[in-house]
Amino acid sequence: MAEPGNKSIKRKMDNSKKELQCCVTHCDLPLDQTYWNKSWEQGETGWDIGFASPAITEYMAQYPYKDAAILIPGCGNAYEAEYLLKNGFTNITLIDIAPKAVELLKEKFGSSGKVQVICEDFFVHEGKYDLILEQTFFCAIPVSRRKEYTEKAADLLNENGKLAGLLFDRTFEQQGPPFGGCPCEYKPIFEPHFQIKTMDPCYNSIPARKNTEVFIHLIKKQKS
Ligand SMILES: C[S@@+](CC[C@H](N)C(=O)[O-])C[C@H]1O[C@@H](n2cnc3c(N)ncnc32)[C@H](O)[C@@H]1O
Repeated sequence: MAEPGNKSIKRKMDNSKKELQCCVTHCDLPLDQTYWNKSWEQGETGWDIGFASPAITEYMAQYPYKDAAILIPGCGNAYEAEYLLKNGFTNITLIDIAPKAVELLKEKFGSSGKVQVICEDFFVHEGKYDLILEQTFFCAIPVSRRKEYTEKAADLLNENGKLAGLLFDRTFEQQGPPFGGCPCEYKPIFEPHFQIKTMDPCYNSIPARKNTEVFIHLIKKQKS
């Protein structure tokens, strides 16, 4: 996933197949464990900003429940979890599908009882959480699975659980991931499961992503 900064991933692109559907780039790569693990093994982690996203740390700085069950799916290097640990949060679950990423995470977080690291596909994960943090995971999954993401995220949340973090508000020229989009596409797929408290331009994005992200703060809707 080539994106601002770091090393860019060179991939063969068949321009005849590139197709724009609204703001979303079509992709026919199998974005499975093999694909992601290869990216990790080869150090092709162009998405990695090297620190916790300020928009998320500022949000968490005013989140009051230090014992909340927090999930970070597609967590990569999970800098946000380092921030959470340093700031007294005690129940953090990290999921990544790539064994190489998980190996690095286990080295980093060791046997801290406060961080659980799981090598698993988000879409089959079972659990219940108070808060899910989103940081460049949604943009990494195939566009065709976005509805499934919203359903799964809602299923994983307790009553009144929250989904917070960042989504891109831009298109990408190259064949994804990352896959872009805009609130006009996101709202209809989140709304069946979440009350949208915030899905607004992010004022504290990192410079490389300035004016290209929305901050989301969504509350799980009660099932009627
Ligand atoms: C674009 S990276 C983002 C990593 C991290 N959130 C960050 O911002 O640095 C996407 C991550 O999601 C993982 N991933 C992709 N598909 C997944 C899935 N279905 N379940 C769990 N993790 C997945 C990849 O291995 C990769 O580490």
